[in-house]
Amino acid sequence: MSMLTVKDLCIKVHDRKTTDTLVYDVDLSMDKGDILGIVGESGSGKTMTALAIAGLLSRHDMEKSGQIIFEGINLLEVERKVLRKIQGNEITMVFQEPLNSFNPLKKVGWQVEEGLRVHTVMDKIEMKDRAIEALRDVELSNPEAVYNSYPHELSGGMRQRAMIAAAMIIQPKLIIADEPTTALDVTIQAEIVELLKRINKERGTAILFISHDLSLVNTLCENVLVMQNGLVVESGKCDSIFNNPKEDYTKKLISAIPKNPFYKG
Ligand SMILES: Nc1ncnc2c1ncn2[C@@H]1O[C@H](COP(=O)(O)OP(=O)(O)OP(=O)(O)O)[C@@H](O)[C@H]1O
Ligand SMILES: [Mg+2]
Repeated sequence: MSMLTVKDLCIKVHDRKTTDTLVYDVDLSMDKGDILGIVGESGSGKTMTALAIAGLLSRHDMEKSGQIIFEGINLLEVERKVLRKIQGNEITMVFQEPLNSFNPLKKVGWQVEEGLRVHTVMDKIEMKDRAIEALRDVELSNPEAVYNSYPHELSGGMRQRAMIAAAMIIQPKLIIADEPTTALDVTIQAEIVELLKRINKERGTAILFISHDLSLVNTLCENVLVMQNGLVVESGKCDSIFNNPKEDYTKKLISAIPKNPFYKG
């Protein structure tokens, strides 16, 4: 059995008059330590799919159907108490721009400790030690200073590393990274991808990596899903999808990759 199996996932949003289906019958599966990419144009349903898996879609506005089975438990059916042990603990999420997800008024260290406060019983000193260790693990050179900084005092790349530290501090089995590098410049993007690769290799953490950037997905991921208008139009090994796409939509996405004149690959 896979670690994560999503089957026939549909997400609908209701307002007073209409119902909109945002995601249709999405299937995916991931084993421990897998890195799966999701690509697709803006509005194709990548974030909605990710939020549903991470348990971050409000139960009131969004109707979810199908199955999200994590280690044998259907997250769409299980009681809240069990859900809280999985979502935010076994499954954590990293977002595009940590400035929007970090609280600007709280120091970074306090926010990196969040998972420990919610999911463990630890005293302050122990939490601080763990937070510093997590910040060091993401290759921040002065973890103590970062711990004592406010989010706006860090560069974009440092903030994203701190966000990854916050996601990793409780040693999740799956990290969902939704466009984690999109707000960063190209060299920093590559560093963050290298960091995720290292975490995956050393810790065995599975990564669901959502990106517009097909070449980053190709560098990091083994398998990829291509989404369009809420549907998975094609899925499989990156090698075969990127070298031999079957669907016109995938071909279109690939042909839209800007050619780098300096690339001699
Ligand atoms: N809170 C919401 N209420 C209603 N519809 C929404 C909401 N959030 C997103 N949508 C719609 O759901 C669809 C899927 O959006 P989603 O954010 O998953 O796309 P995406 O693939 O992540 O796009 P992007 O690449 O721009 O991040 C879009 O049509 C979007 O307009
Ligand atoms: Mg998105």
